[in-house]
Amino acid sequence: MEKFIVEGPAKLVGTVNISGAKNAAVGILPATLLVKGKCHLENVPDISDMRSYYTILESLGAKIEYINKNELIIDNTNIKSAIASYELTSKFRASYYLLGALLGRFNEVEIGLPGGCNLGARPIDQHIKVFEKLGAKIDVRSGRVYASKTSKLKGTSIFLDVVSVGATINAILAATLAEGTTIIENVAKEPHIVDIASFLNSMGANIKGAGTDVIKIVGVEKLEQKSSYSIIPDQIEAGTFMVAAAATKGDVIINNCIPKHLEPITAKLREAGVTVIEQDSLVHVKMDKKAKPFSIKTMPHPGFPTDMQPQMCILLALASGTGMIVENIWESRFQYTDELIKMGADILCKGNTAIVTGVDKLYGAPVIAHDLRAGAAMIIAGLVAEGKTEITHINHILRGYEDIVGKFLKLGANIKYISEGDTDD
Ligand code: EPZ
Repeated sequence: MEKFIVEGPAKLVGTVNISGAKNAAVGILPATLLVKGKCHLENVPDISDMRSYYTILESLGAKIEYINKNELIIDNTNIKSAIASYELTSKFRASYYLLGALLGRFNEVEIGLPGGCNLGARPIDQHIKVFEKLGAKIDVRSGRVYASKTSKLKGTSIFLDVVSVGATINAILAATLAEGTTIIENVAKEPHIVDIASFLNSMGANIKGAGTDVIKIVGVEKLEQKSSYSIIPDQIEAGTFMVAAAATKGDVIINNCIPKHLEPITAKLREAGVTVIEQDSLVHVKMDKKAKPFSIKTMPHPGFPTDMQPQMCILLALASGTGMIVENIWESRFQYTDELIKMGADILCKGNTAIVTGVDKLYGAPVIAHDLRAGAAMIIAGLVAEGKTEITHINHILRGYEDIVGKFLKLGANIKYISEGDTDD
């Protein structure tokens, strides 16, 4: 079985370069389907979720020229089909963006019901509401989603019942080439939503308000890319290295990031006593003592991101007192706490709340990466723990972090990737 072996304790020191944002890239790649022509993308993260997307788009008729591992030209002139493989689309969450993008071009679209991290119930009722309001018919059966339309989608007013990143992006994708004006209220405001809107606007779309509560989209006839587009740096990858630096009492420059996107994380780290110095496109994180206890409530952006909650728990698990984590987005995001308890952490979970009391030490143990961010937290736990931590189910981690082993090694960590069949000695 593939695994990571981490030997701790470590003190991370040095500079890490942040890759392109996964959650922007998985929206921008399907957004290229709205262009009957070529799109040139830069700062694309080299992660397995993107490789799955390339296979899907190529199976639909896209031609992709891979310039290097982070840059590509995708030609969607000859997309022949809007029926995406069940096996490929049902494996990851962001495949649902194919619905919004392909509906802009085809009358019949079919994908597998999206999979992805197991974080509890992950309904898509708001996506369906968006498509239906725009005039499409949606059917969910036999593990597939069927979307159809008989004429162009028509702009309308939509009020989302819950603030959903995915439904907001799907609404933007579907409304970009629709007839007339679409106004979407109660939308998500994450940096990746702004990036996807900027990408589409750079090609002639008319999207205003991304990053606020209300987005207005005036449908346009067609899109055309005139110059290449560089994807924003990954907020959560940057945050993960910030916490890793703090938890290992290290001194790390997190380079190629947007400090503004990191503000909720920076604020919480400062509350814990961590030094965070912000400059143009980097943050410098330093820590030399036990963290002060703190509490977190996860919220949609600009609140504290749920995707940083497991990583922050490691800092709290070694803090000088008791703190609390309230998870407001995903019902099963505390599965990783059982793994931390195996390592000696003192955590009590009830419902959506975890009470965490700092201990003096964590001890290496065999642990599971239950999902992508839980997996990142297991690496940080392995770095601060005494002895060897063996992390399995790392396919989750590889879905969303580019060269994670190489980046941690460069900061002085003792971490190894063991592929299937290898032994770790
Ligand atoms: C995106 O998921 C991210 N994934 C997640 O990151 C992230 O945790 C999440 O947003 C919240 O920030 C991608 O961008 C690919 P939502 P998404 O729709 O779009 C409820 C990671 O680790 N909801 O904003 O699926 C839902 O149950 C991943 O990178 C509905 O009720 O999340 C949740 O409670 C994991 N009906 C809340 O809204 C719907 O139709 C937010 O979900 C849709 C969502």
